[in-house]
Amino acid sequence: MAAESSAVQGGRRRHVLLFPLPYQGHINPMFRLASLLHARGFAVTVFHTHFNAPDPARHPQYRFVPVPDGTSGPPPVAIEDVVAQILALAAACEPAFRDRLAAVLEEYSRDAVACLIADAQLLPIFEVATKLAVPTLALRTGSAACFKCFAAYPLLCEKGYLPVKESQRDMPVSELPPYRVRDLIGLGDDSCGAGRELLARAVTAVKVSSGLILNTFDALERRELEDLRRDLAVPVFDIGPLHKFSPAGDSSLLRQDRSCLEWLEARPPASVLYASFGSLACMSQRDLEETAWGIAGSGVPFLWVVRPGMVRGSAHQVLPEGFEAATRGRGMVMSWAPQEEVLRHRAVGGFWTHNGWNSTMESVCEGVPMLCRTYFGDQMGNARYVEHVWSVGFEVGGELERGAVEAAIRRLMTGEDGAEMRARAGELKKAAEECTGKGGSSCLAIDKLVAHMMSL
Ligand code: UDX
Repeated sequence: MAAESSAVQGGRRRHVLLFPLPYQGHINPMFRLASLLHARGFAVTVFHTHFNAPDPARHPQYRFVPVPDGTSGPPPVAIEDVVAQILALAAACEPAFRDRLAAVLEEYSRDAVACLIADAQLLPIFEVATKLAVPTLALRTGSAACFKCFAAYPLLCEKGYLPVKESQRDMPVSELPPYRVRDLIGLGDDSCGAGRELLARAVTAVKVSSGLILNTFDALERRELEDLRRDLAVPVFDIGPLHKFSPAGDSSLLRQDRSCLEWLEARPPASVLYASFGSLACMSQRDLEETAWGIAGSGVPFLWVVRPGMVRGSAHQVLPEGFEAATRGRGMVMSWAPQEEVLRHRAVGGFWTHNGWNSTMESVCEGVPMLCRTYFGDQMGNARYVEHVWSVGFEVGGELERGAVEAAIRRLMTGEDGAEMRARAGELKKAAEECTGKGGSSCLAIDKLVAHMMSL
C-alpha cells in the first residue's frame, strides 16, 4: 500500500465517520466507499437513521451508531413524499446526531478522526460536524451531470424551464446541454418549492465541505467533471464505479433471490432481458399489465424484478392472469435480484431499467445496453446520456403500451441497432475497466482522496 494512500499513522488507524441517506440507491455507494476506505486502513464508524437501518451483523468490521430520526408510518411512495421525508429526516436527526458525534469525538479523541463523509442530501449533518470542528466531505451518489443540474436549478426555475410545462417538454435547455426540459431533475409538481430546497441544500453541503466525492469515472463524464472542477471551489474526486472496488451484496435492504443465477447458467450468451426499476419507482397496475404482456409478446427470455409495493396502491401486486402460462419456461419473476451479478452474467443481453444512477453505472460497467423507462429525479437525465451521449440504449416514452414494449424489447435484444448499442456498451465497459485498473483515473482519484482526508 502506498504511504500516501494509507490511513495508518504511527501504527494507529485514523477514523472516518460516515452518514448515508437511508435509501437503497444511496446506501449501496456509501457502503462501497466504506469498504474501500477500510481497505486503505481507516477505522469506519457508520451513523445511521432508524429508517432503513443497516444490519450491523453483516458488517462486523464497522462500528454502527443509530441516530433517532422521528420517522413513523409506511415508507413514502410518491416522489413528493420522498422529498418531504428526506427534509424531515435530516431535520429530525440533527439534535441526536450532535450528541452522538460529540460522544464519539470524546471517545476517539478529535485528532484520531480524519473527517465525516455524509450524503450531500443531509445538510444539517454537515452543519453539526462543522460546529464541532470535524472536517466534512460530501458524497453525491448521482452523476456529475446531475450535480451540475442541481447547481443550475435556481436559474432553471428563474428562467421558466421549471416547473415543466407540457408545451415545453422537448425544448432544449441551452444552459445545460444535452438536457431537454423533460430531462431536468423531476421532483413532482412542487419542483420549485420543497424540491428546489432539497437541491439547494445539497449544493450548499458540497460548498461548505472540504470536497465532493462522485460515483462516476473520467472516461464517462470528462466534460461534466471539468465543468464542476471549474465551478466549484472544493476538490472533486471521481472515484467510481464504486461497486467495482469492493464486494457485492452486503448492503441490500431486501433479500436477494440468488436462484436466478442458476437459471441464467442454462441460457445462451446475451439472450436474456433483465428488467428492474430500482428500489423506489412505482407504476400503475395498468402499466404493470402492459409491461407483462409486452415481455410475454416479445418472445425474449427474461428475468423481471417485481418488488413488493412496486404497484401504486397495492402491497401485493398480481401479474395478469395467463402471464405465467404464456411465459412458462422462458422467464423468471422475482421480488429482488442480486443485480450486479445478474448484469455481469454472460447470458444477460439487455437491461430494461428506470435509470437510477447505480443501475445505469452497473449496466455500463458490464457492457449491457439499456431500454430506458424513467420515473423521477435524476433518471430522465441519466437516460438522456444513455441514448444521446453514450448511445448505449434508447427510451420507451409516452403511454406504456404492450405492442410498443414488444417492439422495443426485440429492437434491443435481436435488432441490428441493439447489436450496435451492445458493441458500444462493450467499449464503455473497457473504459470503466481502464479507469479502475492500476494507474487508472479512478484509482489515482482514490489515492488523492485518501491523501486529502489525511491532510484535513
Ligand atoms: C434512487 C433513485 O431512484 C435514483 O434515481 C438515484 O440515482 C439514486 O437513488 P433507486 O431507484 O433505488 O435509487 O435506483 P438505483 O440508483 O439504480 O439503485 C438501486 C440499487 O439497488 C442498485 O445498486 C441495484 O444493484 C440494487 N438492486 C436493484 C438490487 O440489488 N436488486 C434488485 O432487484 C434491484
